[in-house]
Amino acid sequence: MADRRQVLRLSALAAGAPAVLGATAAPALAGPHPHGPGHGRQPSLVIGHRGASGYRPEHTLASYELAARMGADFIEPDLVATRDHVLVARHEPEIGGTTDVASRPEFASRRRTVVLDGVTTTGWFTHDFTLAELKTLRATERIPQVRQRNTLYDGLFRIPTFQEVLDLRQRLSHELDREIGVYPETKHPTYFRGLGLELETPLVRALRRNRLDRRDAKVFVQSFEAANLRLLHEQYKLRAPMVFLTSASGNPYGDPRSYADYLTAAGLRELATYAGGIGPDKNQVIGRNADGTLGTPTGLVGDAHAAGLVVHPYTFRAENQFLPADYRVGADPAAYGRAIDEQVAFLRTGIDGLFTDQADIGVLARSLAFQPA
Ligand code: G3P
Ligand code: CA
Repeated sequence: MADRRQVLRLSALAAGAPAVLGATAAPALAGPHPHGPGHGRQPSLVIGHRGASGYRPEHTLASYELAARMGADFIEPDLVATRDHVLVARHEPEIGGTTDVASRPEFASRRRTVVLDGVTTTGWFTHDFTLAELKTLRATERIPQVRQRNTLYDGLFRIPTFQEVLDLRQRLSHELDREIGVYPETKHPTYFRGLGLELETPLVRALRRNRLDRRDAKVFVQSFEAANLRLLHEQYKLRAPMVFLTSASGNPYGDPRSYADYLTAAGLRELATYAGGIGPDKNQVIGRNADGTLGTPTGLVGDAHAAGLVVHPYTFRAENQFLPADYRVGADPAAYGRAIDEQVAFLRTGIDGLFTDQADIGVLARSLAFQPA
């Protein structure tokens, strides 16, 4: 009979193929707040990061659909604006790295340099294109050197609008007979506001139009800018739960407070007045030792739970180069390592969910995390 390590290895092999595994829906969270901290009582959420971006070009309908079919509880669109103020799903406004725009002579003159959150950036930007123009482009794999298989799909899929993502969510929820959540992120909200293309108005309109601006909606609105969440809470009166994303260092753009300031006991209590959770870099939940191996839990999960906040760390990826040194297998940075074991270790800290590029691995890790050894 296979011991647990063999089971995990076999599972990792199975997870390497883009097969559709059985869906494991997490039941609605109990307690006073529908998205309150799990404290280990509720199954953690599997959030399909940029869809199933480990298997398809990110932020395409094909990527989101695969994540949902693999059992993800939520699909995660990052949102930016077009020149005609439509929200589309891209990780950043620059689209040279995730579309075929560079090969389109008709758009060659659109290439330019902007200062994006203080960083000089050259390329093609969503805010220089109408939606109709963007729709002529096709998505491509962001990291072909790591995910060569995904280049199979280059050129097949268009850039989706946020509404198209919501329509897909609704269709799949009916078909799969479980509600698929949506976890939209406002990308560079201060930058877009400066262009006269603020993200909040079309975001809130879309959520309301789709009856998703409710406290118990299967929605988390996320941002790396706390001020953006505050604005959504205070001015836009958003009712859907929100999550503040944190980096392991630095400050939110334009904010005198550091991410570390927000994660003190006082900072977390204040966050809880307008947000329902935090989305930390996974290294803020379990740090790395000096040699790159996985360290010990930091205590952030308990601190956040004490403030009434859920904890959804990012980003779990199966390839060696994204894993702690002691979870890698072999020397190829693009080969899969012991990603299931890594996620099990994190799930046992009491996190309430995780963002992963390989939703099937997240579902499997969740099923294994609390089994007797
Ligand atoms: O939103 C969680 C995670 O996606 C944050 O990182 O850069 O992949 O959007 P990023
Ligand atoms: Ca994101």
